[in-house]
Amino acid sequence: MKAIVCEEFGPISGLQYKDLPEPEPGKGEVRVKVLATGVNFPDGLLVQGLYQVQPERPFVPGVEFCGEVEALGEGVKHLKIGQRLICTNRNYGGFAEKAIVDARLVMPVMDEVSDIDAANIMCAHGTAHHALKQRARLKKGETLVVLGAAGGTGIAAVQIGKALGAKVIAVCSSADKLELAKQNGADELINYTETDLKAAIKELTGGKGADVVYDPVGGDAFDACTRAMARNGRLLVVGFASGRIPELPINLTLVKEYSVIGVFWGSFVSHEPMVFLQNMQELFAWYKSGSVSLVTDEVFPLSKTTDALAKVMNREVMGKVVVVPDGQL
Ligand SMILES: NC(=O)c1ccc[n+]([C@@H]2O[C@H](COP(=O)([O-])OP(=O)(O)OC[C@H]3O[C@@H](n4cnc5c(N)ncnc54)[C@H](OP(=O)(O)O)[C@@H]3O)[C@@H](O)[C@H]2O)c1
Repeated sequence: MKAIVCEEFGPISGLQYKDLPEPEPGKGEVRVKVLATGVNFPDGLLVQGLYQVQPERPFVPGVEFCGEVEALGEGVKHLKIGQRLICTNRNYGGFAEKAIVDARLVMPVMDEVSDIDAANIMCAHGTAHHALKQRARLKKGETLVVLGAAGGTGIAAVQIGKALGAKVIAVCSSADKLELAKQNGADELINYTETDLKAAIKELTGGKGADVVYDPVGGDAFDACTRAMARNGRLLVVGFASGRIPELPINLTLVKEYSVIGVFWGSFVSHEPMVFLQNMQELFAWYKSGSVSLVTDEVFPLSKTTDALAKVMNREVMGKVVVVPDGQL
């Protein structure tokens, strides 16, 4: 089978597209034929050795995918050959024609969800959902500021913020990105390359500040938000796409009585699998009703995974990109 292999941490261009032996499922595992794989910013960090988890090398990256069951390992009774599944994998493995997954970490896909959507719904939307629901406890009528609002997890936060009844202020770096955020439900728009972010948030909230900030960007944008929080606000630390992990003068939280809250979706999935499943059910209900949807920027063949990852890491993606095995495009 063909796969993308990370032989050693390094630049994305160093990933190899090569033949690997077809894997056999062990006890409690299944082998799936991969139909589509979501591409996420953390995949790009992982292969460079810049992520908080550092797998043994060589490994096949790709943390979320849609696949069809091809072989069942010992003891797996609840799945059937041919069944379509959404998969996440502690061992990664999604950028390949076949993958082995833990049978407890897969979810059957409804017929109305395409392979492309199924491959991309879990990580970015799952992160935004967990962040806004369990971590921020976002309430109807509150003001939610979403940074990087046209990115994978940002656009998900815009949609889910609206589904939870918030007023959403989208923050992006270009007019095209802001337009996408608007089409996905954002009520107010800020271009943070042209406007003072702190002043703009204050102005749009009548001087009160944001109840909740969803921050996958970090750096200067985080710094601005630390000075634009409402009393009892929640500042969600999701990621550092800007490349700078910011530091916080902690006195700001005292003076304004707000909270800074960490979000780590992978840890949530392992520690609270039942809550994760409930979240996914709610996400699919929103998907069915149309309040949540997947924005697919581009579909790449598996052999061009490095181009897909480079597009994400170079700030060029609106929504998500997807990889499918060569020959399926
Ligand atoms: N905590 C968790 O559990 C979790 C889960 C998933 C992802 N993440 C993290 O969240 C971050 C965003 O992930 P994502 O999937 O939403 O990525 P994405 O689709 O690439 O979006 C990131 C956004 O960040 C903004 N950005 C600002 N400076 C950037 C830079 N120098 N390079 C690239 N983007 C920049 C861009 O928006 P503008 O151009 O509009 O500024 C971009 O759209 C990453 O750090 C990722 O590791 C965390």
